[in-house]
Amino acid sequence: MDITEAIKGRRSVRLFTDEKINKDTLEKLVQAGCWAPSGSNAQAWAFVVLTDEKVIKKVLRFSPGLFQVPPAMIFICTDRERAFQKGGELGRDVMCLLDTAMAAENIMLQAYAMGLGTCVLKGFDQKAVQILLNLPDHIVPELLIILGVPKSVPKAPKRRPLEEVLYWEGWDSSDREE
Ligand SMILES: Cc1cc2nc3c(=O)[nH]c(=O)nc-3n(C[C@H](O)[C@H](O)[C@H](O)COP(=O)(O)O)c2cc1C
Repeated sequence: MDITEAIKGRRSVRLFTDEKINKDTLEKLVQAGCWAPSGSNAQAWAFVVLTDEKVIKKVLRFSPGLFQVPPAMIFICTDRERAFQKGGELGRDVMCLLDTAMAAENIMLQAYAMGLGTCVLKGFDQKAVQILLNLPDHIVPELLIILGVPKSVPKAPKRRPLEEVLYWEGWDSSDREE
């Protein structure tokens, strides 16, 4: 698949068919996450995959914007201990969080290329998820990706035009000293 097609065609999908997602597919998605860039190549992340409907339903209790039980979920977590070892305070407090976003987009693009729908969410109770999934204190769930075979795909929300967001050579290069 053409990369531009994948970047523009991916949508946040929140409604899925009942079709189950197999282990190989889920592994391939996590592998795509692992190929994301990370600050100092720390790879201070952990991916917790859920396919058990009972557990997924419990997660839904802590995720206000989520109404349908998706066939699978991936929590992308930071490993704050590893991030600190590899990158000190900056690694622990900033870099590893940015890295999870990079991993999330990789996973979503890989899923799209495989005909799957995804949506990344921040709207869940971190502490409750940590307890539910028995995560140690230094493993913090940062982003949740829900996924499955799309039942319906929303229209693409408009993007802000380039004229509004693109600045050449600085914010205002006209009065820059030579
Ligand atoms: C950091 C981040 C957090 C998000 N959190 C939520 C969320 O909690 N609930 C939700 O329904 N969608 C969430 N989204 C999805 C956005 O609403 C969606 O990406 C945006 O509306 C653009 O639509 P598109 O992804 O189809 O292009 C989140 C997206 C990002 C990048």
